[in-house]
Amino acid sequence: MLIGVPKEIYPGEARVAIIPSGIQVLLDNGFDVVVQEGAGDGAHFGDEEYRACGASIAPSAESLYQQADIILKVRQPLDQEVPLLKPESTLICLLDAWFNLPLIGQLADKKIRSFALEFIPRTTRAQSMDVLSSMGAISGYRSVLAGAMALPQYFPMLMTAAGTIHPARVFIIGAGVAGLMAISTARRLGAVVEAYDTRAEVREQVESLGAKFVEFDLETESGNASGYASEKSEEFYRKQREQMTTKISQADLVITTAAIPGKPSPRLITKDMLHYMKKGSVIVDLAAERGGNVEGTVAGEKVYLDGVTLIGYTDHPGRVPVHASQLLTKNISTFLLNMAADGELNITLEDDIVAATLVTENGEIKHEGLKAQADNSAEKE
Ligand code: NAI
Repeated sequence: MLIGVPKEIYPGEARVAIIPSGIQVLLDNGFDVVVQEGAGDGAHFGDEEYRACGASIAPSAESLYQQADIILKVRQPLDQEVPLLKPESTLICLLDAWFNLPLIGQLADKKIRSFALEFIPRTTRAQSMDVLSSMGAISGYRSVLAGAMALPQYFPMLMTAAGTIHPARVFIIGAGVAGLMAISTARRLGAVVEAYDTRAEVREQVESLGAKFVEFDLETESGNASGYASEKSEEFYRKQREQMTTKISQADLVITTAAIPGKPSPRLITKDMLHYMKKGSVIVDLAAERGGNVEGTVAGEKVYLDGVTLIGYTDHPGRVPVHASQLLTKNISTFLLNMAADGELNITLEDDIVAATLVTENGEIKHEGLKAQADNSAEKE
């Protein structure tokens, strides 16, 4: 079968699904690979490198999609890409499926077999395929750098002839993959770091990275096998905001990472709370794409509100495109090869990773949750 790697056309997207050094393993497993001309440019991988690694180059998106049996992509296909997909071909990418129901319907109608990489379970076996963790870690790292650059002060403690500089105080809300990486990055830059999470089990990890785990008088959750937090009541979030106000008023940089899969971002900081923060302080809201943890965040922008800089960039991984693409290559090819043998796909729903990620096949939505959502919205119409 022929694997196709298109050039991403999502605005500003610099990543590519497979980098040249990832071609060989696909060839070794019996696949051929075609890459669209310029697909690696944003991540600094040229067509010549792809050719040298054994891929052929397609001159346009049209010719790539026409030939390929399996498309490996970073982002979901946009409106102009959907018509190019070959019926009955296989599509593997981040579909952002919970928020792209019309696209899912179109993929089903076109009889595309699609897999959503964001549904890869957080299990030990799937760890090397876990795209969200790879991208979350980069975002955590990048959030600290963006925050430090926007902060009108030093990060580390410095004793100079002109006086002592106190270290920046960083408060991280949500110590998942991004939060833990943010802690270690902020510590390396010399900040004093505190972190909070509703999942009590992360305390040890927070402390092992040299940060203080903050406790509030709030219920905690533990043992959630999914590795993700569950949604809380509005009353819980109200109490959390109340208790967190003092903490954020002491911080120079706040990084918010709270996410609930398939749901809008929980509101952790309101505009009123910004008023208690120090003038010149900075918040990096990693959950901006889903409405943000902070009231006033603008997705993709840096804005100033009540003396506070709010950073709502939604493309942190794309700002580190070389390593983001390197990690995606490993994640996506491992995912593909898990359901392949001798250059052919071997799809079985008995494999929990396949079952969790399969979205459409044979003209139907196969994913239970998405199917229910689609039926629901069809009923409403
Ligand atoms: P994760 O699920 O590993 O971590 C989120 C953490 O937040 C969990 O530990 C969870 O327990 C915690 N949490 C949930 N509700 C909370 C609350 N009310 N208070 C305190 N903690 C709470 O997710 P990951 O991979 O760390 O990603 C973090 C965020 O970064 C997500 O919103 C994700 O969508 C976003 N992201 C942003 C990117 C960007 O460019 N802006 C790129 C990639 C991810």
